[in-house]
Amino acid sequence: MFDIEKFDIKLGTEQIGRNFIYAEEVTSTNDLILNERKLYNQHGTVLLTENQTAGKGRLNRPWYSATELNLTFSILILDAKYFRKKINILNFTIALAVAMSIENLFQLKTELKWPNDVLISNKKIAGVLLESVSSGNRIERLVIGIGLNVNQTTFQGKFNVEPTSLRRELRQNIEREKLLAEILNSFEELMETSVSKPKFILDEWRSRCRLLGERITISENDKTKHGIFEDIDDEGFLILKSNGALETIHFGDVSIL
Ligand code: BTN
Repeated sequence: MFDIEKFDIKLGTEQIGRNFIYAEEVTSTNDLILNERKLYNQHGTVLLTENQTAGKGRLNRPWYSATELNLTFSILILDAKYFRKKINILNFTIALAVAMSIENLFQLKTELKWPNDVLISNKKIAGVLLESVSSGNRIERLVIGIGLNVNQTTFQGKFNVEPTSLRRELRQNIEREKLLAEILNSFEELMETSVSKPKFILDEWRSRCRLLGERITISENDKTKHGIFEDIDDEGFLILKSNGALETIHFGDVSIL
């Protein structure tokens, strides 16, 4: 059981998580926050659940998480100052908030994998799914969904990147309340930085990305591309160098060649 009082004591934000909803079971926290406009209409609302019956990952994959063991939540972003051209930077901002929180609380070394996976010892500990609703060219609502493996110890199924959890890495049970508060505190601060100093976010992301400069494969559905992971651009897209030419990649899974 998640102890909301314990979480609340550690939460130091002004907006993110101030409206906090806890649900035993939902279809997908992203779907609810994105589509239930009447229920969820406050910027920074966080919906945390113990179980999703239709959890979604990137590239239309399902996302499974064991009941009551992990952190499965979504954050609603309504403030238009974050809906600028460089919206992709929010992907990096949340991944960084998760990575830095893990580093600060547990002194574990994290790595970031493009576009927004958080890894420990080459294994995936968290994934992020950003979704939005637009009217014409204008974004109206944006949801940032996070699945973080905390106390789950076994993982079934086939994975692109082998999963791990904090419990597996640290061999001890982790208090989810303190960790969630730390992530939201850090995210609110980094969100401001993403507007005032986006370069800081990009550089912090770069410094945790092991594959920069490496020969990689990018796959999206059945298409694959090979080349050198040259850099990320100002919007967070991947720049791939192949046969001397640079190409900007918007989607896909990166793996080492
Ligand atoms: C990925 O790595 O593919 C992204 C996984 C994102 C999962 C989270 S769990 C909370 C939120 N609700 C969803 O349905 N998906 C995201």
